[in-house]
Amino acid sequence: MQIVVTGVAGFIGANLAEYLLEKGYKVLGLDNFNDYYPRKIKEFNISTFVNHPNFKLIEADITNIESLDTLFKENEIDALVHLAAWAGVTPSIKNPHIYAETNYVGTDNLATMCVKYGIKNFIFASTSSVYGNNNQVPFVESMDTSYVAAPYPASKKAGEVLLYTYSLNHDLNVSIFRFFNPLGKYQRPDTALTKLVKSALYGYEFPLFQNTKNNTARDYTYVMEMCKAIENVINKPHKYEIFNLGNSKPETLATLIELVEQVTEKKIKTVEDPRPGQMETTFASIEKARNILDYQPTLTLRDIIEVYYIWFLKQPEWYQREKINK
Ligand SMILES: NC(=O)c1ccc[n+]([C@@H]2O[C@H](COP(=O)([O-])OP(=O)(O)OC[C@H]3O[C@@H](n4cnc5c(N)ncnc54)[C@H](O)[C@@H]3O)[C@@H](O)[C@H]2O)c1
Repeated sequence: MQIVVTGVAGFIGANLAEYLLEKGYKVLGLDNFNDYYPRKIKEFNISTFVNHPNFKLIEADITNIESLDTLFKENEIDALVHLAAWAGVTPSIKNPHIYAETNYVGTDNLATMCVKYGIKNFIFASTSSVYGNNNQVPFVESMDTSYVAAPYPASKKAGEVLLYTYSLNHDLNVSIFRFFNPLGKYQRPDTALTKLVKSALYGYEFPLFQNTKNNTARDYTYVMEMCKAIENVINKPHKYEIFNLGNSKPETLATLIELVEQVTEKKIKTVEDPRPGQMETTFASIEKARNILDYQPTLTLRDIIEVYYIWFLKQPEWYQREKINK
């Protein structure tokens, strides 16, 4: 089977491509290496598989429908996993246009191509932040997600709704995954775990973007569990379904910091840096994914941090020290 993975050079894309190649799939990886974080990190992310015989890298922009047309015309494609996006909640408040263009128009372009070339399985990365500051926890897929707190989740919610219309009006199956705080190797440099590990090792100040004194929390999830769920729907498409992929065990930022300190055996310096648009809590109900996709996350947050830290220590010094101010 040949699978298109958009956003292949990013955190989740690189994990997924590596996972699928190991399982014997062919992967057509698409990315435009945008400047949300440095290109050299993205090139590093794909370096373990870029020369794999079953992998082909296509440098293209999903907002450019002509370049997508060539890709779809020239290749046999069995399913598309659409991960390419501008991610990041707070930056989207300053720059909403790029989020709308990439995350909404780009998604529309890919769905148009699937319809045109008869590709019937579209898998879309959405986010836990579509739940906004909802008081009702855990978050269940059927809840109202109209009240998001920033343009980034708005663009993802718009993508979910747009794809519903494609599944309704065309022969296109759509599976949507709402990812809850994925953690793992190739972790994005602007996320808390990467920054905490670098702060522990190199003494950088860690920006406290959530209030650690109350119960604000994140439902951290191991990225490889997400890859398994994606593989499940590659093989068993759904007409239109939304699945939460979380751990159903939210942990506070204070706990995350404490666990990183324990695992690295180092103290972390913090500095207050509240960020607009951030949710208080993410907390997934994963019953639906459990029942339909046999999704069974098992690792604790501490286990995931240990796996990440062991991997991180083996990476080159420039990669470990790279500091991103986001
Ligand atoms: N990491 C998280 O915390 C998280 C949480 C929820 C949802 N998601 C979603 O998962 C997906 C992957 O996220 P990630 O953390 O791997 O992000 P990432 O930024 O590491 O990867 C995204 C990749 O998409 C590429 N890209 C962006 N715009 C593009 C365009 N116009 N054309 C082609 N490629 C483009 C980027 O260059 C990047 O390599 C995204 O859709 C994101 O919204 C991520």
